[in-house]
Amino acid sequence: MLVSAKEMLNKARDGKYAVGQFNINNLEWTKAILLTAQELNSPVILGVSEGAGKYMCGYTTVVGMVKGMINELGITVPVALHLDHGTFEGAKACINAGFSSIMFDGSHYPIEENIAKTTALVNTCDVLGISLEAEVGAIGGEEDGVIGKGECANPDECKAVADLGVTMLAAGIGNIHGKYPENWEGLSFETLAAIKEKVGDMPLVLHGGTGIPDEMIKKAISLGVAKINVNTECQWAFQKAVRKYIEEGKDLQGKGFDPRKLLAPGFEAIKATVKEKMELFGSVGKA
Ligand code: 13P
Repeated sequence: MLVSAKEMLNKARDGKYAVGQFNINNLEWTKAILLTAQELNSPVILGVSEGAGKYMCGYTTVVGMVKGMINELGITVPVALHLDHGTFEGAKACINAGFSSIMFDGSHYPIEENIAKTTALVNTCDVLGISLEAEVGAIGGEEDGVIGKGECANPDECKAVADLGVTMLAAGIGNIHGKYPENWEGLSFETLAAIKEKVGDMPLVLHGGTGIPDEMIKKAISLGVAKINVNTECQWAFQKAVRKYIEEGKDLQGKGFDPRKLLAPGFEAIKATVKEKMELFGSVGKA
């Protein structure tokens, strides 16, 4: 069964740890993340960007795959299926398809429009028991071809959006999707503390989890971050492991060409990355 992210994030906020959102791309990704969460007895959020949703043949296919896996693999830890950086239309489509959690990213709109569109989703999500993530202050880097510059959110705007009744709030604090540049100045804990002061109990979301030093992750959690998104790091782990398999000529030996063998090192590498993150975030044993 899929669950809303609300309860797991409120628990994480109170317990001073964070739940990982790991983005999925295909069957191997999904299976690796679900099995790792179960092995570690950790709650988990599966993130689906609109591009990945399209790649996986649409949201209903994703819902079917994830629900099927939860059933067939005997997954009992809380799992939320979450739209990542959704448009307004994408959010509506995922609600209809059976997602249990939605992010509406209105950060590129003027704040009034972000508020109006987020408001329109608050009641629907509330009635259906779906968690809703809103965003203030664009997160830098490139995701699905959308390029944004790292930005720090305005704490008053964060409060205005948090007060709409969303479940969790993503706010830019100098974080970036993908690889951090050499000259990155790190997370702005000053901004994070100012936002936390304004929004009170609202669980905060840290995007761009790839490449943030462990100490900064821990500090962010201590300041109110309860959800951390990781995508690129699993992609790198998968790519390196599959590259190694091919470079070692293993695909040319025996039945090494079998996709179940060819992709197995990538699958194991995702599992190892997810495990490392769950241990760092403190969600192990918290299901
Ligand atoms: P990374 O790809 O940098 O890990 O960011 C993931 C993310 O924030 C998804 O919303």
